[in-house]
Amino acid sequence: MINLDTERLLIRNFQSNDWKDLHDYLSIEEVLKYEPGNVCDEVECKQMALERSQNDIFMAVVLRETHNMVGHIYFNQIKPDEFLTWGLGYIFNPKYYGNGYATEASRRVLQYGFEVLKAHRVIAMCNPENHSSWRLLERLPMRREGHHMKKAFFYRDNEGQPVWHDAYQYAILAEEWVSE
Ligand SMILES: CC(C)(COP(=O)(O)OP(=O)(O)OC[C@H]1O[C@@H](n2cnc3c(N)ncnc32)[C@H](O)[C@@H]1OP(=O)(O)O)[C@@H](O)C(=O)NCCC(=O)NCCS
Repeated sequence: MINLDTERLLIRNFQSNDWKDLHDYLSIEEVLKYEPGNVCDEVECKQMALERSQNDIFMAVVLRETHNMVGHIYFNQIKPDEFLTWGLGYIFNPKYYGNGYATEASRRVLQYGFEVLKAHRVIAMCNPENHSSWRLLERLPMRREGHHMKKAFFYRDNEGQPVWHDAYQYAILAEEWVSE
């Protein structure tokens, strides 16, 4: 069960009735530009919120004052378990960009990862074109430790060929983590 707080935010498990807030931003093409998958309709968001309410991998981020959901964080252990490595990801609602909410929430999740889950290492991948994402990672602070050329593709061109993109890899080790 996830229940983390920061100065302005609560980070908690998804609830099935979060689907509307999820739909508010997962229905926007621009939000998913650097993510696998397409925009989601209401039915898909209902299913997604329900599924996400049953695990700790996806966490809803809500404002403490209004309880409005501003986005979500993904934090999942990467195999093999004994390497104690987690992957971090995030998608926020553009209505709330530019307030530092994603940084504040991600930093709190890193603290949870290192102090409660006893993570040894946390990694994050992002497209080099996604400046707001890697700037966020550097604020946490995570370290850029790799530039993978043509690492993956999320869609194909009109001829059915994969549109490969590069990826930066960021990481932070337990011994690099300094809690505020
Ligand atoms: C990546 C994403 C979460 C970044 O959102 P964001 O709002 O820019 O990120 P932050 O919460 O860290 O906010 C940082 C901005 O708030 C400003 N800010 C205001 N108050 C702040 C505070 N207290 N602390 C930190 N930053 C603050 C910063 O100056 C920065 O603004 P700038 O980009 O104009 O320099 C968002 O663009 C997003 O969800 N994108 C779509 C999904 C996506 O691409 N996910 C990542 C895939 S790898």
